[in-house]
Amino acid sequence: MAQVLGPVKSHPATRHDDLLVGISTGDDAGVYALGDGRALIQTVDIFTPVVDSPRDWGRIAAANALSDVYAMGGRPVTALQYLAWPRDELELSVASEVIEGGLDVMAEAGCVVVGGHSIDSPEPTYGFAVTGIGAPDSLVSNAAARPGDKLVLSKPLGMGIITTAIKRGKCPPELEAEAIEMMARLNDQAGEAMVRAGASAATDVTGFGLIGHLLEMCDASGVGGRLVANDIPILDGVTELLAAGMWPGGSRRNQSAFQPRVTSDLTEERLQPFFDAQTSGGLLISIAPDRVESLLESTPGASIVGEIEAGDRVRVT
Ligand code: CO
Ligand code: CO
Repeated sequence: MAQVLGPVKSHPATRHDDLLVGISTGDDAGVYALGDGRALIQTVDIFTPVVDSPRDWGRIAAANALSDVYAMGGRPVTALQYLAWPRDELELSVASEVIEGGLDVMAEAGCVVVGGHSIDSPEPTYGFAVTGIGAPDSLVSNAAARPGDKLVLSKPLGMGIITTAIKRGKCPPELEAEAIEMMARLNDQAGEAMVRAGASAATDVTGFGLIGHLLEMCDASGVGGRLVANDIPILDGVTELLAAGMWPGGSRRNQSAFQPRVTSDLTEERLQPFFDAQTSGGLLISIAPDRVESLLESTPGASIVGEIEAGDRVRVT
C-alpha cells in the first residue's frame, strides 16, 4: 500500500487545518476537529471471510472495524455497512446471516448503523465505515509513546495462524471457538480504560502483527521498544499449529519486512507468533508506569508485555 499512499499523502485533499490526525502518521483512524470541543474519528475496514460460519464472520468484521475508533480513545457513534456478494453463486440467505452477525456486534457497541451499500461481486467482502466521537485532548494517537512507558496488550496472539488452520481444516474445534470469541470481542473496555488512565499512545494489533504495529508506534513517536517474550499471551495450541506448518502469507511478509529491525537471541520459531498477522486483535497501549495498574484493573485479559525505550528498534528478550 505504501506505493499507493505516496501521492495520497501529498495531495491537497488530504490536508486541512482542522485535520488533527491524517493519513501521514499511519494512525488507526482519521481525526477531524469540529471546533466545538469535539472531534470526529473515522475509519473503514472490510475483509473477505476469515472463518466458516457466516454469522461469526459478520461479528468479527464489525468488531474489527470498531476497533480503530477504540484505539484512538473514541466512542463509536454511527456506521455504514458494505457488502460485496456473488449472488449467482452464494445464497442471499447466507448474506443475511453475515449481516445479522455484524449488526449484533454494532448493537452491542451502541453504534447505530445508518445505511450502507451492497454490490454484486465475485468475492464476498464485508465490513463497515465507522464514525466515532471524542474530545480532542483525550484522544490517544500512536505518536506520543515515551521511553519508560509500559506496553500493555489486551488480547492474546495467534489469530492469523489459527484462521489459516481453520481454512485448511486443521484447527481443533475448541481452539477455533475460542479464537472466534476473541476476534468478535470489542476493544471497548480497553479503549475506555486507557483514556481514563491517561495512556500516552495506542494502536490496535491487526495485519502487521504485534511487532509491525509496535514499530509503527515507535516510528511515529521517535522511540524504540522491548518485548518480553514470556509475558506475551498466545492462545494455547498455537505453537503446535505453527509446528505443523500453519504460517499465513501475511505473517510471512511481516516477518521478512520487520525482522531487520528486531534484535533478539530467541529462535525464529519463538519469534514467529509476534509477527503473526492478527484479525481484530487487541489494543497495544503505551502508558506511564505509575498509571499502568489502574489500566490493568479495568481491562480484563490485558497484560504488560514490555516497555518503550530510546532507540529505533524492537528488542525481544
Ligand atoms: Co488499527
Ligand atoms: Co483499519
